[in-house]
Amino acid sequence: MTLLPATVSEAALEAWGREIGSSVRAPAFFALHGPLGAGKSVLARAIARGMGVTGAVPSPTYTLVQPYEPSPGRRLVHMDLYRIEDPDEVIELGWDDFVADPEALLVVEWAERAAEHLPRDRWDVRLSPEPGAPELRRLEVERAGRPPALPTAPRGFPEHR
Ligand SMILES: Nc1ncnc2c1ncn2[C@@H]1O[C@H](COP(=O)(O)OP(=O)(O)OP(=O)(O)O)[C@@H](O)[C@H]1O
Ligand SMILES: [Mg+2]
Repeated sequence: MTLLPATVSEAALEAWGREIGSSVRAPAFFALHGPLGAGKSVLARAIARGMGVTGAVPSPTYTLVQPYEPSPGRRLVHMDLYRIEDPDEVIELGWDDFVADPEALLVVEWAERAAEHLPRDRWDVRLSPEPGAPELRRLEVERAGRPPALPTAPRGFPEHR
């Protein structure tokens, strides 16, 4: 299934992220793509909130990995690969264990920088600016392999196929 591209407000993106966080079954990998300021961290933070993470959800621009365990056995690993220079650097971050964790949702900004290390089963989420509409983003969601089902499409998605 590919969801048709949608145009989303920040509120709609956050609402969708919270639903993902509260309902998607682990293990799940979300590869977030899109330029600086596209809204990847907004989505990651909303997923964290939906999972029950309270308190700060800092963007892991420098730490690269930020793990959470909001409730026993339900983990979130938020990564930001913007600063890596070689895909193999993800291995030192503990990538293989995170990807193999059956109880974790992984949400990875700049995921394409992991190149061949990306798991086969994942959701690819692309955010991009909407020309002429600074408060809106174009959102494309594509299934790769067999990731777990998503809840509903965000408001603004015309249909599934
Ligand atoms: N429709 C929208 N969806 C998401 N963010 C929006 C939207 N409209 C405006 N914004 C703003 O755009 C910014 C998105 O920043 P964010 O940190 O999420 O980007 P990012 O993709 O994570 O960038 P980086 O690559 O630097 O990590 C926020 O300031 C947010 O308030
Ligand atoms: Mg970010």
